Amino acid sequence: MSLSIQEAKDLINNLKEKEIALGRAPETWYTYENHVYGAANVAKTIASKIKGMNANEIYICALLHDISRTEEDREQHFHGILG
Ligand SMILES: [Fe+2]
Repeated sequence: MSLSIQEAKDLINNLKEKEIALGRAPETWYTYENHVYGAANVAKTIASKIKGMNANEIYICALLHDISRTEEDREQHFHGILG
């Protein structure tokens, strides 16, 4: 994977800035962050116990699985696939 954990976090921060610029209440952003960081931590924990899996890559994939979720609301596609 050519994307670092910091680059993945930067993408989430960019999405946060975009969403707030488009009118999302900043105090609601924690729900998104809690979800994606929680999913990433669970995925990394599971991956670390499975032989042959790269826990950091799995962490990044889980961290970004909702990156298109806000678009899904407008386009009616499954966010896991888009992400
Ligand atoms: Fe999700």
